Amino acid sequence: MVIDILVGTTSGNTEFLADMLHEELKQRGHSVRFHDNPQLNDLPTNDGFWLICVATHGAGEVADSMLDLNDQLQQQQPSLKGVQGAILSVGDSSYDTFCQAGKDIEHVVVGLGVHLISPRFDIDMMTSSDPEQSAVNWLQSWASKLGS
Ligand SMILES: Cc1cc2nc3c(=O)[nH]c(=O)nc-3n(C[C@H](O)[C@H](O)[C@H](O)COP(=O)(O)O)c2cc1C
Repeated sequence: MVIDILVGTTSGNTEFLADMLHEELKQRGHSVRFHDNPQLNDLPTNDGFWLICVATHGAGEVADSMLDLNDQLQQQQPSLKGVQGAILSVGDSSYDTFCQAGKDIEHVVVGLGVHLISPRFDIDMMTSSDPEQSAVNWLQSWASKLGS
């Protein structure tokens, strides 16, 4: 199955985690398209799998590289009923708006029809001793559900 990895990062941590997931998916035999500045026009909307990796910045806002996609989804309201997905949400629990961007993106894409095959996974960069391993463990918990 072809996986589209969508990265929302400002300072690079989430891109690093997404790279690890990219490697893991390739090792499992999947084709992966990596979008470090995802644009709706470049993504499948009738089928496919969106692996969304997004950090929270500002006062609970979506990180810079996903601002375009967030706007495009809200303005164009495409039907995403055939799309499956999973969401890795990166944040820091010292903020009141912990992982708010992941929650907001989840609300948007699920509202447009995306079927999440696993619950959203929130990584706390303040307390996690090994965020890379946590992210890979999370992927391994659902990757067998992906078609070949
Ligand atoms: C200015 C700033 C604002 C932030 N705001 C939040 C926030 O509201 N909620 C949250 O969970 N994390 C927040 N964070 C923490 C980031 O999500 C965390 O540092 C993350 O690792 C950044 O990922 P990135 O390097 O992929 O951009 C903030 C970080 C910075 C520097």
